[in-house]
Amino acid sequence: MKPLSQLLSSIPPSATIAVNDKAKALKAAGRDIISLAGGDPDFDTPAHITQAAFDAIKAGDTHYPPSVGTVPIRKAIAAKMAREYGVEVNPNNQVLVGPGAKFLIYATMAALSNPGDEILILEPYWVSYVPMVQLAGGVPVTVPLPADDNFRITRERIEPYITDKTKAILVNSPSNPTGRVITPSEAEAIRQLAIENDLYVLSDEMYEKLIFEGEHICMASLPGMAERTVTFNGHSKAYAMTGWRLGWMAGPAAIIKLAAILQSQSVTSAASFTMAAGAVALESPQDVVEEMRLSYKARRDFMVPALNAIPGVECLNPEGAFYLFVRFPGISNDSMEVANRLLEEADIAATPGNEFGESGQGYVRFSIATAMSDLERAVERIRKLMAA
Ligand SMILES: Cc1ncc(COP(=O)(O)O)c(C=O)c1O
Repeated sequence: MKPLSQLLSSIPPSATIAVNDKAKALKAAGRDIISLAGGDPDFDTPAHITQAAFDAIKAGDTHYPPSVGTVPIRKAIAAKMAREYGVEVNPNNQVLVGPGAKFLIYATMAALSNPGDEILILEPYWVSYVPMVQLAGGVPVTVPLPADDNFRITRERIEPYITDKTKAILVNSPSNPTGRVITPSEAEAIRQLAIENDLYVLSDEMYEKLIFEGEHICMASLPGMAERTVTFNGHSKAYAMTGWRLGWMAGPAAIIKLAAILQSQSVTSAASFTMAAGAVALESPQDVVEEMRLSYKARRDFMVPALNAIPGVECLNPEGAFYLFVRFPGISNDSMEVANRLLEEADIAATPGNEFGESGQGYVRFSIATAMSDLERAVERIRKLMAA
């Protein structure tokens, strides 16, 4: 047999999958595993959004939609950017809607990258960024940020990694996995570096609506940034719509044009009725989002002090998203070892923190998009494990 793709074969399987497989096997064997490993809201999609999809299907909206997204959803996205951040984007050529933000981030990497082009990715980072850049033909350059300074972004920490091959800096706020929300001075450091070095900023704002303290900074709204920033967002987290596969990007027309070529020649488009429902989600009252945000906040406010009260456990206080980044110095400074002990001895599945880059070594990530009753049981089990 002739060899298969060297590129795809070079992407290492994720350690998260190994932990998840083990969790599934234990579950199948009858163990009561509490999974804190996922990134999927435990809420159902709000009823008015689901109804809008049913209505669209009944009305015959079941044909190929425009590849770049339907007019109503592109207009709703442009209106949101203008209303919330004062960022003017033309819905005709500066907005692309696709089957999830994940695909659009990949399409953007492909739109930016010539062989050898480097994309800076700040640690700890969402696990998919590195393979995405590799698959798109670029070179991921990961920038460590120190855990003992709360992973703070500074100019000095990024600058040494900028070369004449650097094309873009990727920013994710609120962050998966740490839940950190970028501060004005951090955003300013990135803005200055981008302008001085003529870089694009890829701003993944997927958890924008899930902020407990501080305010979301839309990178495109900063002076001089609209022309060099691509904003990624979507419905998965804010509206509990992960399975619908609906995401969007907004930014410079030239990048949108190339990403749209990749989309139209591969996955074609997002689903027609998903986009119909997505437009309704953006344009109807946002109290459903607020209810979910308050629920995540209540879970965080329970979990963080409860975990920190356990000797040998240290939990950062996330300002947004729905993850906790937790260290277990009482067990080990090795993430995999902690994840394995939690699984084997406390029946808790967590994501090892070193999956998010070396800066995350020692941590595990807990998802609090999990019912409060399970979170309470998880704390109890951790208390027992640490007392043993
Ligand atoms: C930081 C971040 N960006 C993007 C995505 C992808 O979202 P989507 O469901 O729109 O593909 C996720 C999903 O986990 C995420 O955590």
